[in-house]
Amino acid sequence: MNQYTDTEFEAIISPILDIDEFRQLKFITHHGITRYDHCMRVAYMSYVVSKALRLNYKEVTEAALLHDFFTDEVDQDNSMDRLRNHPDYAVKNASKYFELSDMQVDIIKTHMFPVTFTPPKYIESWIVDLIDDLAALYERGYAFHREARTAMFLFMFLVVNFVKMR
Ligand SMILES: [Fe+2]
Ligand SMILES: [Fe+2]
Repeated sequence: MNQYTDTEFEAIISPILDIDEFRQLKFITHHGITRYDHCMRVAYMSYVVSKALRLNYKEVTEAALLHDFFTDEVDQDNSMDRLRNHPDYAVKNASKYFELSDMQVDIIKTHMFPVTFTPPKYIESWIVDLIDDLAALYERGYAFHREARTAMFLFMFLVVNFVKMR
């Protein structure tokens, strides 16, 4: 059972939550909570935003939930390598269970941009990249900093207007 009670959201994510390997994320600390809870937060926020913007929210929500799907692959990496490499591990793990679309691969691979150097190709990837940052700020206790709120507002304003122009 999770705290996000939207039935459509639950239906989208349930095939992923059924995977044993994915549920291992419940036992890994990430931003002071569990990696599972972090992925759920990013997935739910991405679901709400991409649905409101009339994007392909099912694909976005799945990729957002899978964006940090790695377990112990990065133990040998130093911290900068870990930041840069874990999106590739997540794509590899997700691909064992699902046929990812090009957009989903892009969402997962570029969610650490600009720490990883290749920028997102899709507006959906930019959205998940930003939401992941906001979730990390929130989880680290910076949610109510004025700069973070202002940056979020400005970015969402730009995204909404960009999507309207398409
Ligand atoms: Fe990540
Ligand atoms: Fe993340």
